[in-house]
Amino acid sequence: MKRRTALKALGIGIGGPVVLTTGGYGVYYAAAEQDTAGEIAFGKALSVPPLAESEISASGARVFTLGIRPGSTRFKAGPETRTWGVNGTYLGPTLRARRGERVEFTVRNGLDQDTSLHWHGMHLPAAMDGGPHQVVPAGGTWRPRWTIDQPAATLWYHPHVHGSTADHMYRGLSGLFIVDDEDTKASTLPSAYGVDDIPMIVQDRAFDADNQFEKRVPLGGALGVIGDEVLVNGTLGPYVDVTTTLVRLRLLNASSARLYNFGFSDNRTFALVATDGGLLARAWNTERLYLSPGERAEIVVAFTPGERVELRSYPSEYGGLLGRIDGFDDRLDICQFRAAATLLDDARIPATLGSAPDLAGEKVTRERSFVLASDQINGRSMAMDRIDFGVRENTVEVWDVVNDNGFLHNFHVHEAQFQVLTVDGRKPAPHLRGWKDTVLLAQGKHYRLAIRFGSHTDPDTPYMYHCHLLQHEDNGMMGQFVVLGKDEKPGTVPRTHHHT
Ligand code: C2O
Ligand code: CU
Ligand code: CU
Repeated sequence: MKRRTALKALGIGIGGPVVLTTGGYGVYYAAAEQDTAGEIAFGKALSVPPLAESEISASGARVFTLGIRPGSTRFKAGPETRTWGVNGTYLGPTLRARRGERVEFTVRNGLDQDTSLHWHGMHLPAAMDGGPHQVVPAGGTWRPRWTIDQPAATLWYHPHVHGSTADHMYRGLSGLFIVDDEDTKASTLPSAYGVDDIPMIVQDRAFDADNQFEKRVPLGGALGVIGDEVLVNGTLGPYVDVTTTLVRLRLLNASSARLYNFGFSDNRTFALVATDGGLLARAWNTERLYLSPGERAEIVVAFTPGERVELRSYPSEYGGLLGRIDGFDDRLDICQFRAAATLLDDARIPATLGSAPDLAGEKVTRERSFVLASDQINGRSMAMDRIDFGVRENTVEVWDVVNDNGFLHNFHVHEAQFQVLTVDGRKPAPHLRGWKDTVLLAQGKHYRLAIRFGSHTDPDTPYMYHCHLLQHEDNGMMGQFVVLGKDEKPGTVPRTHHHT
């Protein structure tokens, strides 16, 4: 990072007339590192989001009803925390549907302000995407519907109102959307939901003295809100009673800005079996795994009878000059696993998991480049009424994406899963070889992404691409594209309820 940029960064995030001398900042900086390894009591069983109930309609569609509402939640001793939830007071139920199924939703907004629900990672028509153009007005109802057509994967949903996404998610609106496919039933991977196939929505939070969520932006921080306590599925300091040798964890980083470098307290290896968009071709054994905001991973961990071990986030290599301020030096205990005296041993990691993406040999219709810096992409801020470009249906494009300003960014594309072809010209690390919809951008490196666009054409309704660090996204590090039919041209975004 350039020194000037670093100094400028000191001005970001100062909420009031705070004046620190250089020496004072040094003290603040030194104290910013957090280490909770071995310090967490792990006194509460991990809560597992319920599977959403659904009904099959006369036409055979799977119908879900989701109510977004305010409430309050007890995270710790003392006052309850004011939160928002979906069909509850914090987070939402896990949606689950099969490839080929038609899904329909009734989304009721019981808040006193507009919000939306975006289906992150889902291949679907733009009008159903739940982005900033599909706002559900306060008190209103939205009925999206589409046919699931993609491999089994751990997807998720969250609000996406331009300028308010960080706020709505911080209050608690997020949930998982698990897609199953033809191969799911026959798979030997651990698959009993909440037993040996456990969802883990990981979020950092800062609590104030009254137990309310506090939007704590570090002094000199560049990423937005960083919390010092970690919730998993809304449980602070959770433990899991392990009853099987192999356990699958479906990890989601649903934090605003924090990067996790997952590992276990004894540095055991675990197997990465799936990334954002589905199963890898084969498992990759590792001791560490990075997940930036919005990314998911399915890992399989082996336990021995009677043991205890913690899932932890280790310090990161991506911090840069002032990284400590934004949590990159932190070591945080997240969840404790307590293995029973005898463990059931009925799952296996198959030698071949899924079909790896292979777009490398495809005809590339178009190449584009994206530079992320200063809350902008290619020097432009998100504008609700500007379509940045159109892509042609059923074509493959290669996007070259680079983080050019020294702070952490990632890159998320709606509607499609992509393949990382190369990182700075080299074959990507194994965890980037599966289907991805969100990718961490290491400073200065060129990520070449191959993306196949489907046939959900709509010249007027854009999909988004953006940094998934929510403060950056809200500040405008986002753009819009449309998928066009054969002779179509980008149209005009209908005037919706615009948020600024
Ligand atoms: Cu997870 Cu555009 O969003
Ligand atoms: Cu998304
Ligand atoms: Cu960013």
